[in-house]
Amino acid sequence: MADGSGGSGGSGRGLERTLIVVKPDAVSRGLVGEILSRFERRGFRILELRLLKLGRSQAEDFYRPHAGKEFFESLISFITSGPVVAAVLEGRNAISAVRAMVGPTDSASAPPGTIRGDLGLGLTDNVIHASDSRESFEREVEVLFPGFLSREAEAGTSAQG
Ligand code: CMP
Repeated sequence: MADGSGGSGGSGRGLERTLIVVKPDAVSRGLVGEILSRFERRGFRILELRLLKLGRSQAEDFYRPHAGKEFFESLISFITSGPVVAAVLEGRNAISAVRAMVGPTDSASAPPGTIRGDLGLGLTDNVIHASDSRESFEREVEVLFPGFLSREAEAGTSAQG
């Protein structure tokens, strides 16, 4: 392509990284393949992929912006209740495009066609988390994939900046 982006999700202008976490409800229901395949079919590339059981302090770090909110305790106990699958995805406008695919926070009011709208009904157990901004991505990725940003900077493959 003239802009060097190499097609959908390629490596040029507009290319971004984002983080998703398939939550314990979706992992236990066997939905990991379905969810990852939606992103692959859309054209996103999986740069990192990890099955993790979050400990309490790691979960509190991950959800630090929500500390003090009335749902914080139930959120931490839910996200530490079983394995999650975390992934770094790369593609054009990844942060906003992935958020649009995921749908609104409350699955019960998420429209059909979105991941939450098709696969869930919960609010805390809402199938999947996705970074909501570049700042959130950079904070969250270092909790789940420590050293990711410095490795990217060293390799000179940072998509953003
Ligand atoms: P997530 O995208 O992982 O970001 C924060 C999470 O807090 C959110 O999805 C929900 O699972 C959870 N949560 C629970 N209660 C609420 C609430 N009242 N408002 C927003 N998020 C909530």
